[in-house]
Amino acid sequence: MAFGVDYRWLRWPGTGGPRIGYGADYNPEQWPRHVWDDDVAAMRAAGVNIVSLAIFSWARLQPGPGEFDFAWLDDIMDLLHRNGIAVDLATATASPPPWLTAAHPEILPVDRHGATIWPGARQHWRPTSPVFRAYALALVRAIAQRYRDHPALTAWHVSNELGCHNVYDFSDDAADAFRAWLRARYGDIDALNHAWGTAFWSQRYTDFGQILPPRQAASYPNPTQQLDFKRFSSDALREHLRAERDILRAVTPDVPVTTNFMVMGESSGMNYADWAGEVDFVANDHYVHPGPQALDELSFSANLTGNLAGGRPWFLMEHSTSAVNWQPVNLAKRDGELARDSLTHVAHGADAICFFQWRQSAAGAEKYHSAMLPHAGRDSDLFRAVTALGRTLSDLSGVAGTPRTPARAAILFDWESWWACEQDSHPTSRLRYKQEALDWYSAFLTLGIRVDVLPAAADFGGYDLVVAPILHLMPAALAERLRGYVDAGGHLVTTYFSGIVDEHDHIWLGGYPGALRDLLGVRVEEFGPLSDGEQVLLDTGAPATLWTDRITVTDPQVEVLATYRSGEYAGRPAITRRPVGAGSAGYVSTRLGATGLVDVLARFASAAGVGSELPEHLRGRVELAVRGQYRFLINRTDEPVPLTDLPGEPVVGPARTLPPRAVAVRAVPAAH
Ligand code: GLA
Ligand code: GLA
Repeated sequence: MAFGVDYRWLRWPGTGGPRIGYGADYNPEQWPRHVWDDDVAAMRAAGVNIVSLAIFSWARLQPGPGEFDFAWLDDIMDLLHRNGIAVDLATATASPPPWLTAAHPEILPVDRHGATIWPGARQHWRPTSPVFRAYALALVRAIAQRYRDHPALTAWHVSNELGCHNVYDFSDDAADAFRAWLRARYGDIDALNHAWGTAFWSQRYTDFGQILPPRQAASYPNPTQQLDFKRFSSDALREHLRAERDILRAVTPDVPVTTNFMVMGESSGMNYADWAGEVDFVANDHYVHPGPQALDELSFSANLTGNLAGGRPWFLMEHSTSAVNWQPVNLAKRDGELARDSLTHVAHGADAICFFQWRQSAAGAEKYHSAMLPHAGRDSDLFRAVTALGRTLSDLSGVAGTPRTPARAAILFDWESWWACEQDSHPTSRLRYKQEALDWYSAFLTLGIRVDVLPAAADFGGYDLVVAPILHLMPAALAERLRGYVDAGGHLVTTYFSGIVDEHDHIWLGGYPGALRDLLGVRVEEFGPLSDGEQVLLDTGAPATLWTDRITVTDPQVEVLATYRSGEYAGRPAITRRPVGAGSAGYVSTRLGATGLVDVLARFASAAGVGSELPEHLRGRVELAVRGQYRFLINRTDEPVPLTDLPGEPVVGPARTLPPRAVAVRAVPAAH
């Protein structure tokens, strides 16, 4: 059960009382033994209290079938423990060793073209390979039995970033497992034929044995087959997580198990709303994507992770102290960003701040990736910033264990809609689900209004305002929940291309936005996507791109908040709002972007009675996040911001002026 065990990882050995975890992936096997003593001394100097160990150690731990070499791991586990450093111990299954792939090439993934994904990098394994599973679980059992009573063992780290490179595998193993998954989902082949709409293009199946993964085909593969393959692929990796976890729980029932999610990672492949309940505490990895919304995106990721964790504290398992190595251009972090990025995660509920990795590698693909201890060594500004952050986190010990304080507004985020709305052969291939959600989030930040990013399955009934950007895939039950929310006085806002298909990716007929048409009081007969570079204006003067809808208002109660001024639909409604009792249902039919949404959101928020908790001069310049009595004030700008008219006592950070990219934390006792 999720969170069924207590947070043993918060009860730090020998330190008395909760604290914020601080550390990194630690890869001592990359270094000679004498470096380890220096590592541990430097960790202590930096305030490191936890490391993730053995993530990529399979080849070292198991030199051959049935042969184990734990001596080096015993040594480093003992050394860390003697120095008061806790261990999040990996199951080491992330990267199979050469002897295994040489003996069993049938564990290697296959791409959609039938090409083998060869060894030589990492994560070259099929989630559905019974051979891989057997070897991996044998290793997990051996490690669990070896370290079950080790006093440094604080948590288990299953594999690593499941699905980072191997989420979609089109092998024969995957085909077999996909068929079994489909049998369980549909029961009989007629139900599958209906769901997949196989009357189209002569695709009717007469037996599950005829079904394949959506391999490279002559034209667009069946869309429901593609969608089900995404669901299946997420589930297949989750099965692997469960299999490792169940062994760990059997051997060490008291040690919490986690795995590091990539909630806003490169791939949308893992439906973390379905995964979060599988771990004892949620852990996430986040890397900054440079650009104008970089900090907003970081905050969005942290916010969603905190809500996947049900508001309870979570663990930032990886981020970077400075540059990564895998972007087209790998920017170094600017002064202040290391601490600001870290504290933004804490603000949204992280109770541990960890990095990839402890000591920057001298060799290998990630030697240009920053670390806590850089190539330059301890005498470096980076290590000084790392050490300063260690002190700050220690000053924040009182925050540890404190849940996020919910906001009054929510943004719904839904992996199935993400998958479905970006599939091929749609009105436009330019639509980006995550970007639209992020633009709304940025608009909230600009207005200084706190918002929770929630999985769509979460209970949003208590929120005064719910924004559901591109909630494209809408099973009848979800439409019913949204209707019930509005009927009960809630204020819903949704956008273009929402409510269009059911769970099988079948259109809700009768005019768009299908499942939400009556609730919104509008009807759209045809979509009007815009060409690249094309822009139309609203009567508010706001430029709109990507998408327009030819809207007819069907309910006289509907208020038209904005109309199209230019383009084919000039004079027609662009933004509408239907009052429903004490609630309302709003519709934004075009893409306005982070800036253009600000005024629109301000109107919807004020109608919902939702406002900023910040004094006016701080709105937009500072992000506010709240954990119990702790208020985090994050400077979103490169300018100093005066901290006037704020309640509470400073816990960390300056009292009067927030420097560029800095964070202040104030404690406001409950009476306020
Ligand atoms: C991922 C992996 C790490 C490392 C980092 C680099 O998060 O889990 O092993 O490769 O990326 O950014
Ligand atoms: C071709 C095909 C049709 C249909 C159309 C779509 O003409 O013959 O079956 O796919 O393209 O534009």
